Amino acid sequence: MGLPFIVLNYKTYLQGTGQGAVEIAKACKTVSEESGIEIAVAPQLSDIYRVASEVELPVFSQHLDGIGAGSFTGHVFGKAIKEAGAVGTLINHSERRLTLAEIEASLKAAKEFGLRSIICTNNVPTTAAAAALGPDYVAIEPPELIGSGIPVSKADPEVVSGSVEAVAKIDPSVKVLCGAGISKGEDLRAALDLGSQGVLLASGIVKATDPKAALEDLIRLV
Ligand code: G3P
Repeated sequence: MGLPFIVLNYKTYLQGTGQGAVEIAKACKTVSEESGIEIAVAPQLSDIYRVASEVELPVFSQHLDGIGAGSFTGHVFGKAIKEAGAVGTLINHSERRLTLAEIEASLKAAKEFGLRSIICTNNVPTTAAAAALGPDYVAIEPPELIGSGIPVSKADPEVVSGSVEAVAKIDPSVKVLCGAGISKGEDLRAALDLGSQGVLLASGIVKATDPKAALEDLIRLV
């Protein structure tokens, strides 16, 4: 198995807002260059351009609407985030839930604008449904463990291995990430041992006193 893919979701954490978004991205870039591991960041929409302009690393949007150009006030338009410098997007995070029809429309928009897609899910059946839509990644994150500091890969290993199995049956080209409570080297190691190809994480790194040191700890058992 190759190196994992790490995606850091900044959510609306203060530490990852404005100039903080750039500083955390710089730490990610340094650790990525030192380790050869691909690390992507998902700052707030308003910080995509700032981060992508100042730091050379993959930037994802935290959300994308399945709309095109036109009368769509307050929506997130694929072309706009692409032009801001995003290379991908999260879709259907537990903190930004969508209907199945909306997920499909968002994914269509991501594909139309050449954006990499990560559909977030909350259990094995929704992971299977998301995989059937054909995104690049699904990211299984049990909501009750998000932000808890209790790693999904240790607290609920079956949801990770069950998702990996379900996705392999539906579309083996879809890669599986997992997230919720991941912050330490052993959490990432356990996630990889369960068959996932990377992690989607947030608080353990974004809120750390030293995000670079936290990232170095995260990857130490890869
Ligand atoms: O999108 C990442 C996420 O919801 C997990 O958050 O803080 O548990 O790493 P956290």
